[in-house]
Amino acid sequence: MLMRRTDIDYLRLSVTDRCNLHCIYCNPLDQQGLTDRAAMLSTDEICRVVRLCVESGVARVRLTGGEPLVRSDIVALVRKLAGIKGITDLSLTTNGILLASMAQALKDAGLQRVNVSLDATEGQCFRRMTGSGEFARVLDGIQKALAVGLAPVRINCVVLRTANLSQVANLAEMSLHRPVSVRFIEYCPPGAKVDRKDWYVPNEEVRRLVESHLGPLSPAPATQAGGPALYFRARGALGTIGFISGRSSTFCRRCSRLRLTCDGRLRPCLHCAKQYGLGTLLRSGASDNALLILIGRALHEKSRYTKLDTTLECFSMQHVGG
Ligand code: GTP
Ligand code: 5AD
Repeated sequence: MLMRRTDIDYLRLSVTDRCNLHCIYCNPLDQQGLTDRAAMLSTDEICRVVRLCVESGVARVRLTGGEPLVRSDIVALVRKLAGIKGITDLSLTTNGILLASMAQALKDAGLQRVNVSLDATEGQCFRRMTGSGEFARVLDGIQKALAVGLAPVRINCVVLRTANLSQVANLAEMSLHRPVSVRFIEYCPPGAKVDRKDWYVPNEEVRRLVESHLGPLSPAPATQAGGPALYFRARGALGTIGFISGRSSTFCRRCSRLRLTCDGRLRPCLHCAKQYGLGTLLRSGASDNALLILIGRALHEKSRYTKLDTTLECFSMQHVGG
């Protein structure tokens, strides 16, 4: 019989599929409509699910979206989650637009750290990538996160050959004088049918570009590691450079993540169609025990995965939460 892995301890929790940006790589075909608001889990429902996930071995929780900061009760949700015993790492991934105004409240509520998406250092390119002219607000958000101690602050840049390859050098340079980790992410097509082959840049090429600008990179140990990123440092830099290479390499055997959509579907893997209707079960009046059994089944299922399932034709990053 297959042994259940005991190292699956990281829950990515999508708290909404709404977003205030329209990044070209995220949901290119607008494949799915938005979740009905009534189907979205309430704060109390989320907390119940998270408590049971913690009983099942989860210790790290990341809030994602859509854009998590557009959820109106996000600060209250963070406060409640921070009160759950057994969570050692409570983090959030944001596009940064609302971060400057909310960073202090989030920190006070118990959030430990943030990852901020930033795909450009020029306003025009930022607009091409995101459809928004609010580039300066993201920079303010990053500054504010650093100021209030939501650390380590990580910056996520998805590199697309025909859109923002020109931004790589300047983004990497941000790691020289700021205590941030600038991470380059390989474009992951949300399904084989919607792959833009002209966009993909392998991180090996991105690394060469960074090194031609900043000199050789040396491996850097990261605090709060355990994710798919590998970290390096340019000589004399305050911050680090990270690479998330989900396309040129796979990390299934060490992948520690479960994903929960905002309507309560538990997914053992980003790329796999299989999902478990935890929200539906919860709303049918199920006992904690019944919910724990379902979470256990998802954990068992994930333990079987050793390589990427490429049969999934289409999924929405915005819906699954990245
Ligand atoms: P930490 O390492 O804990 O800071 O978080 P993270 O990098 O996992 O979270 P973030 O939300 O910043 O994700 C950055 C990128 O990594 C996104 O493009 C995610 O889709 C990708 N990513 C995160 N976890 C996985 C995973 O399990 N598999 C794959 N293929 N990609 C992942
Ligand atoms: N490929 C790779 N990364 C993506 N993200 C969103 N869509 C994609 C994609 N198609 C990233 C965002 C965000 C993180 C949660 O996922 O940039 O930083």
